[in-house]
Amino acid sequence: MVQRRLFLLLFFCVAGSRIASADTNRQDVAALKSLMKKWKNVPPSWGKSDDPCSARWDGIRCDENSRVTELNLFGVNIEGTLSDDIGNLTALRTLDLSSNSGLGGTLTAAIGNLVQLTKLALIGCSFIGTLPSELGNLSQLEFFALNSNRFTGHIPPSLGKLSKVTWLDLADNKLNGPIPNSKDHGTGFDQLIMAQHFHLNQNMLQGSIPDYLFNSSMALKHILLDRNNFSGPIPASIGVLPKLEVLRLNDNAFTGSVPAINNLTKLHVLMLSNNKLSGLMPNLTGMVGLENVDLSNNSFEPSEAPSWFTKLDKLMTLKMQSVGLSGQLPQGLFSLRNLQYVALSDNQLNGTLDMGNISNDLYVDVRNNKIISLAVYSSLKGDLLELTGNPVCGDSLLSSMKPCTGHTIEPPPVPRFEVQCANPFLESIIFRAPSFGDVIKYLPDLHNNLSSKLNSCTPNQLGLGYSNNDAYLNVDIRACPVGKKRFNYSQVLNCFNLTLQTYKPPEIFGPYYVHAHPYPFHDKASRAVLIGVVTGSVLLVVGLALVGVYAVWQKKQAQKLGSINDPFASWGSMGEDIGEAPKIKSARCFTFEQLRLSTHDFREINAIGAGGYGTVYRGKLPDGQLIAIKRSKQGSMQGGLEFKTEIELLSRVHHKNLVGLVGFCFEKGERMLVYELISNGTLSEALYGIKGVQLDWSRRLKIALDSARGLAYLHDHANPPIIHRDVKSTNILLDEKMTAKVADFGLSLLVSDSEEGQLCTNVKGTLGYLDPEYYMTQQLTAKSDVYSFGVVLLELIVARPPIYKEKYIVREVKTALDMGDHMYYGLKDVMDPALQRTGNLIGFSRFLKLALQCVEEVGADRPSMNSIVREIELIMQDNGIKPGTMSASSSFSVDSRTTVKVAPNHPYSNPSTSSTTFGMNSRPFEYSGVFPSQGSLKNRST
Ligand SMILES: *[C@@H]1O[C@H](CO)[C@@H](O)[C@H](O)[C@H]1NC(C)=O
Ligand SMILES: *[C@@H]1O[C@H](CO)[C@@H](O)[C@H](O)[C@H]1NC(C)=O
Ligand SMILES: *[C@@H]1O[C@H](CO)[C@@H](O)[C@H](O)[C@H]1NC(C)=O
Ligand SMILES: *[C@@H]1O[C@H](CO)[C@@H](O)[C@H](O)[C@H]1NC(C)=O
Ligand SMILES: *[C@@H]1O[C@H](CO)[C@@H](O)[C@H](O)[C@H]1NC(C)=O
Repeated sequence: MVQRRLFLLLFFCVAGSRIASADTNRQDVAALKSLMKKWKNVPPSWGKSDDPCSARWDGIRCDENSRVTELNLFGVNIEGTLSDDIGNLTALRTLDLSSNSGLGGTLTAAIGNLVQLTKLALIGCSFIGTLPSELGNLSQLEFFALNSNRFTGHIPPSLGKLSKVTWLDLADNKLNGPIPNSKDHGTGFDQLIMAQHFHLNQNMLQGSIPDYLFNSSMALKHILLDRNNFSGPIPASIGVLPKLEVLRLNDNAFTGSVPAINNLTKLHVLMLSNNKLSGLMPNLTGMVGLENVDLSNNSFEPSEAPSWFTKLDKLMTLKMQSVGLSGQLPQGLFSLRNLQYVALSDNQLNGTLDMGNISNDLYVDVRNNKIISLAVYSSLKGDLLELTGNPVCGDSLLSSMKPCTGHTIEPPPVPRFEVQCANPFLESIIFRAPSFGDVIKYLPDLHNNLSSKLNSCTPNQLGLGYSNNDAYLNVDIRACPVGKKRFNYSQVLNCFNLTLQTYKPPEIFGPYYVHAHPYPFHDKASRAVLIGVVTGSVLLVVGLALVGVYAVWQKKQAQKLGSINDPFASWGSMGEDIGEAPKIKSARCFTFEQLRLSTHDFREINAIGAGGYGTVYRGKLPDGQLIAIKRSKQGSMQGGLEFKTEIELLSRVHHKNLVGLVGFCFEKGERMLVYELISNGTLSEALYGIKGVQLDWSRRLKIALDSARGLAYLHDHANPPIIHRDVKSTNILLDEKMTAKVADFGLSLLVSDSEEGQLCTNVKGTLGYLDPEYYMTQQLTAKSDVYSFGVVLLELIVARPPIYKEKYIVREVKTALDMGDHMYYGLKDVMDPALQRTGNLIGFSRFLKLALQCVEEVGADRPSMNSIVREIELIMQDNGIKPGTMSASSSFSVDSRTTVKVAPNHPYSNPSTSSTTFGMNSRPFEYSGVFPSQGSLKNRST
């Protein structure tokens, strides 16, 4: 009896499963299995049974008739092609295969069979070829997104038949030709009256846009046509779209004048920059919804600041660079209470810049105008105003202050949303038209909002980071599983699938799309991912950032950061690289090829220095900027860790007395750092090099002050503080205005100086400058830099290397010292004869005393860099020199070929015209002359 029951049970089970296997529609099963054969990395649940519906294959959903209605394999790293079989899933309503960057090939015409389809998303895959016109048969389609692939050819006019479509996104492909319209092409986009989104940005679309493409019965909210090749006038019919919120036409070749758009009162974002628009400045009166306006780089008729400047109450971002604005800016502009970012550089604005009482953190860039004075400067924090290139900067008081010196905008603290775990889910949300100018204000909101959305689906800890490129805002999200090792398929597919716009961010962020990074579902897959990273083959569609959570503050540098591709995708793939990828701020990533070209193939003649780490080359970027490239020797002591540290340090540090990092290159086993080229060589060369420069007393004081300011910045204002560790006169560079800049911080922290032999391996620095206390105790403090700086101050007096003919400068000076001698304090025989010749050295005794304090045996007895700065300022004042400016105009010979003219006090005059450096214009870029050295040269003092 028992046996019989068991048997029956068994029978039912078998029968049950047989029935179930027959359950899913056979045609659907066959189609799925056939698709599966061409795909790698399908979820393991696939194929375990023959019944996708009841056996719950991941990403499959069915209706009550056991037809497959949803196929959603978003971001699971499928590789392969989409075969004709897809056309047999005729009951499909949702098809989302987005964020599978290994899925590609041409898009099959069979997709046109899926006539039930309401949602089609193939975002961020690798599809190529033309769009099949059969797409036009998908008459139920509402959501249609093929963006971020590599589609080519024309947009098929048949898409005009998608009469229910509300979301249409073909952005970020290689499409060309016109936007189809029914009049010229039979069917076209003018018929898509339900559409709210035309996202066609970042293609190669061309031609002029006919007026009849738009009409007032359309529901359009977002029109993104930016970054194409459109020409001709902006169609006037755009002005009648009653619901329009975002209009991006920037970076095309539109001509003519801007039509009347004043009726677009719902418009938040208007971006017309980088076109060839002419005529009157657009009249935006009455467009009270505007939050972000960018009209830059067009050829409008010159005009004074328009009256709407003070009336658009919601304005957050206003960019009108190089548009012919003249006259005085109305103060009312700055009292708009939402204003965050104003860029009006390269215009003819004149008179007084009167910003009234601004309280918020307003960023104002009015470089290269004709502003002659500044009102209520004191109420401004000063950090966020850029005035360089205005006559007002000639004012001696202002000229050394932040607004006039450039390179000074400090990154505000980035909110920390970092989370760490072994298997985070990484995804980027790319916002295509945010309204704000200051993303940091809004990230916390986004974080809360997104976190609650995702957490309601699966528990996770969410990290956020962001980067800007000049067009879009990239927010990288990193979700860590809570209470488990990793997410499973259904969590990824159902919780992180933001593809279909199920998530609504705060409105101010504007339209977005998402792109997910392949997730390591199991250890095998994670190895596959790693291999993918190493070979770099399938990686990186636009917007994909491996170092998801690292924030990049790019407010100022936004325009410079071209690619979001992660330059450190291969970080850690080379054995010796340790730790996390660098947290880069405002450093530019160069390709090997760019740097190779800039140095003429690293020709010997362009080498300007060498050291243990490798060689320094001079180079020239296509935009004319001169750079110094520090190229590490293969297998040099500077490993990945050092390289990373230096980039991180340098890119955080901006000060006019520190040599700025322009960028870096981490490619083809090369590690290169790119600095601004400082044209006048090192201080040691100026003092006692082969082409010694006449440095008078005030000039030397200025150099001392400059370098002290640079070091004080490192010690007290850099975060974390930086101890230079290798302060010496060969690391102090002089630019064309003889401003001193300290070089080689960061590297000196780590580069091994073992080549110099005599040093204990742990103590780093250069003989002659080394703090004795540090040498004995190996305790490094900021006071060690002060000691080395004291040696430099003594060098300024004696104009000889610190160790010269077996004499040590510190001991020599101390020995000769005779305070009874009021002329030179006993140093007559030791000090630079040239200095003696220049006569009256006001403050010499104070200067000498300061230098000797700096080289006190005990660190605690030495002054801080800050008090050194103050003391030198006082000495300069005694000399009648305003610290921060050099009132004297002088010219001195550097070598027989090169004359450096120090311009009279006109910081706003263009440096490239105020000084002749090395005959740039007259000769091709292969300097044959003596070239100043740059960077950390081998210590020549021993
Ligand atoms: C798809 O349908 C066609 C026609 O109905 C059929 O010939 C083909 O075998 C089907 N493909 C699969 C994989 O079932
Ligand atoms: C703007 O709207 C007003 C009132 O509805 C209308 O009279 C005017 O013609 C419209 N302007 C444009 C350019 O469409
Ligand atoms: C701009 O438009 C408003 C309202 O349409 C009008 O009053 C004003 O005069 C116009 N301004 C200019 C400079 O044309
Ligand atoms: C400023 O520019 C306006 C318009 O170009 C001009 O009329 C005015 O005289 C200028 N003012 C000053 C102080 O230069
Ligand atoms: C995506 O997530 C939503 C919940 O946010 C869920 O309802 C949906 O079924 C998931 N899959 C697809 C394909 O949208």
